[in-house]
Amino acid sequence: MAVMPMNWKIHHVKSVDSTQHLLREKAVSGADEGTVVYADKQTGGRGRQGRQWDSPTGNLYCSLLLKPECSLQEAGLYAFIVAVALANTIEDIIDTDGIQPKLKWPNDVLIEKRKCAGILLETETNSKNIVTHLFIGFGVNILPQEEGDRIGLSDYAEGVLRETVLNNFLKNLEYFINIYRKNGFLEIASAWRSYAFGLGERGRARTASGEYHGVFKDLDDDGALLLLLDNGDIKRITAGDVYFEK
Ligand code: BTN
Repeated sequence: MAVMPMNWKIHHVKSVDSTQHLLREKAVSGADEGTVVYADKQTGGRGRQGRQWDSPTGNLYCSLLLKPECSLQEAGLYAFIVAVALANTIEDIIDTDGIQPKLKWPNDVLIEKRKCAGILLETETNSKNIVTHLFIGFGVNILPQEEGDRIGLSDYAEGVLRETVLNNFLKNLEYFINIYRKNGFLEIASAWRSYAFGLGERGRARTASGEYHGVFKDLDDDGALLLLLDNGDIKRITAGDVYFEK
């Protein structure tokens, strides 16, 4: 697949219901691949699995448009590409000895077990089920968080600017997209594993077809989580949430 430089076009708004909606509107009006929107705050921020994403002023809320012309299954791999780029960006910013961001399958970014960033992928397909538009939304917590299950970059670094996070992320994302296009998913999977949270540990996966308990063995070549069940079977988890016991 051809490696192409991305031409990011960044738009900033003060307030919006969701940057995902705004980007969809721009796509309908013919926005190019590489269009990026970020907002100071969102009034209807959305998370994965229909959850809401709290979006007060001070964090980064961003969506960007790719036009991959690929299958839905391949578009799903971008969740891992984006996660690796985000973890890499955050790792450089926090630069704290012994503390590394972790990726909880499929793509939550954690620092010390608390969520620092989340990613939401949405697609638009044509009549042949080809993904014409991939809307990549991500939120990065920057505000300090004293308690709860969230954490902000300001808990680890002083003077973090959203624009720095965004610009560094876009550079990293371009780098990892090009790795993927040149060398395929295996290299992304191995980068993902280097940040993996809970690998080798017992956990449970909550999916639409039920809950499964076992040991998180590996990430499969297509991004599925491989869970070794107590009866010795391997269960491939392709969608859902995972929780670890420790
Ligand atoms: C998750 O549930 O972990 C994903 C959260 C994604 C939140 C971001 S913030 C920018 C973009 N706009 C939204 O409404 N959601 C995503």
